[in-house]
Amino acid sequence: MIKMAVFASGQGSNLQALIDATTRGELPATIELVVSDRRGAYCLTRASEAGILTLAFSAKDYEDKAQYEGGIASKLAELDVEYLILAGYMRLIGPTLLERYPGRIVNIHPSLLPRFPGKDGIGQALEAGVIETGVTVHYVDAGMDTGPIIAQERILVAPGEDRASLEKRIHAVEHSLYPKVLREIFRQSREEQHGKACTN
Ligand code: GRF
Repeated sequence: MIKMAVFASGQGSNLQALIDATTRGELPATIELVVSDRRGAYCLTRASEAGILTLAFSAKDYEDKAQYEGGIASKLAELDVEYLILAGYMRLIGPTLLERYPGRIVNIHPSLLPRFPGKDGIGQALEAGVIETGVTVHYVDAGMDTGPIIAQERILVAPGEDRASLEKRIHAVEHSLYPKVLREIFRQSREEQHGKACTN
């Protein structure tokens, strides 16, 4: 089992999809911790209802990112967390966490990156009038949705489609794509570890 921590700031529907996938045994992983930068966020309620430990903080209570990420890093180390899974976490990850989890921080974004990075990828796509958009799962680097792409799924935008409809379809894709992609990443990670153990 891979030990992961999920980072979220809002509704947490992707968190829920990951909780459900682990519960059903479709994702061989455990969610050790849910981290949120918004104390009242609904993702925290979902975590508590699933019996998952939570860590909520407010960035304004800290001098800088290094300080609050240092606190998060200690908790992650204590829990032996191996992967950080971002699911609607609205902050850039800083050097403190990037250096501790090289190649082991993953994000999901509601557009076909590199198009429409940053806030409101769905709104940006609608505004631009594109005929297709989609969902991207990628590794996290210091940039805003710039890390290496792992998987993408395309979605055609229907003529005149409104935001509510597109958002619903994008979320549905996210909820099935994210657990599937993570499952593959974790499988490869375990295989590599096993390979290393055998050659040692
Ligand atoms: C998702 O669309 C995700 O791709 C983006 O933020 C949104 C989070 O939604 N990064 P939820 O909180 O998981 O419902």
